[in-house]
Amino acid sequence: MTALPRHLLPATSSVDPTGRLSVGGLDVLDLAAEFGTPLFVYDEADLRARARRAAAAFDDGVAYASKAFLCFAMAALAHEEGLCIDVSTAGELHVALAAGVPADRLILHGNNKSTDELARALEVGVGRIVVDSDDEITRLEVLLEQRPELRPKVLVRVTPGVEAHTHEYVMTGQEDTKFGFSLASGAADDAVERLRRLRVDLVGVHAHIGSQIFRVDGFEAELAVLAPLATRLGVRELCVGGGLGVPYVSGEEAPTIEQWALTVRTAADAAGLDSGVRITAEPGRAIVAPAAITLYTVGTIKRLPAIRTYVAVDGGMSDNPRPVLYGSGYETFLPRATDADRPVTATVVGKHCESGDVIVRDARLPADVQVGDILATPVTGAYGHSMASNYNKVPRPPVLFVRDGDARVVVRRETLDDLLALDTR
Ligand code: LLP
Repeated sequence: MTALPRHLLPATSSVDPTGRLSVGGLDVLDLAAEFGTPLFVYDEADLRARARRAAAAFDDGVAYASKAFLCFAMAALAHEEGLCIDVSTAGELHVALAAGVPADRLILHGNNKSTDELARALEVGVGRIVVDSDDEITRLEVLLEQRPELRPKVLVRVTPGVEAHTHEYVMTGQEDTKFGFSLASGAADDAVERLRRLRVDLVGVHAHIGSQIFRVDGFEAELAVLAPLATRLGVRELCVGGGLGVPYVSGEEAPTIEQWALTVRTAADAAGLDSGVRITAEPGRAIVAPAAITLYTVGTIKRLPAIRTYVAVDGGMSDNPRPVLYGSGYETFLPRATDADRPVTATVVGKHCESGDVIVRDARLPADVQVGDILATPVTGAYGHSMASNYNKVPRPPVLFVRDGDARVVVRRETLDDLLALDTR
């Protein structure tokens, strides 16, 4: 029966006496009417505040993991708020550079960086390359022979043998992973040996134990391994990766960015890490997920007595594949009645041609939900737009940044003609 917990809404949300939701000083039903649905609405003040808090908590040693959500405006915002940007492909690199982010504020990741990607990173002068594999070292070796004037700064990515408590698809710290060099097997030491013979500046060590992590003990275990390694190698940077979780549904709780940073610092001290070693982090989700909501329009309601009610909206797995991929849960509410009780249990589905196209399996909704209603899912700012697709040739939704009563379209809606843009005739 319960209403939507308010803490799942973006920071500047307010609800008027009739129950209508505003974000960034704008009524979201008006936004849906003006810009259409589906629609991603990001609270810009919330994004900026989260970015600033992260930067402050880690003494300016934060790179925003752009895979969570990237567009021109987001890259510019992260840069303006003092964050470096973690890019893991030539595409993310291209967008960040196009947005005016200086190359030395970029960190290149990737378990299979191509020669072209590495060459481009060297050419523009990215701030750090996080080296992930032996084959990458071989490629770097060849490229650096051709560019004797360069001496890139690199970190070595290791797998600390830590199992974070999260979904197996987003666990990365354990031995059995495609990412990084195994510490236990000695592969990490061999990689360091090779890097020391190369003309690179080995500035630090890196690990990333997983994503959507609710318990800080995984990070403590990570530090217990990484801190002695950084000490032994005599490097000046230790990157703990990203992975801080956020609450998506009622009853979930996650550490704050400040608690995360404190845990990491305390664990580093306990492991005797020299205070001169810079501790850095690269959160994605924790900066962007809670700052956005997605608006949909209800198109059909199918009631199957004693079985289930299906509420179908005008988007689906093409704008949010997380429920299908990871079984992720979301809340649902009607922004015309934000605080209303939600006695109805329904399955909110999309418009794609498969039964698995579910957005929220046992969604709670007000009793009077009807066709034509605007339905919202909160906490959709991370890995929604960035993982969106054109399945069934559905155009991807636009992205709005709202702030102080102004709405900016930062990514426009795809058109039907956009769907033909790549086809040759
Ligand atoms: N650093 C590295 C090296 C990463 O691989 C990732 C995420 C991050 C930082 C940022 O992690 P975050 O702070 O956002 O948890 N698509 C999945 C999440 C995949 C995460 C991939 N790597 C999801 O929707 O839950």
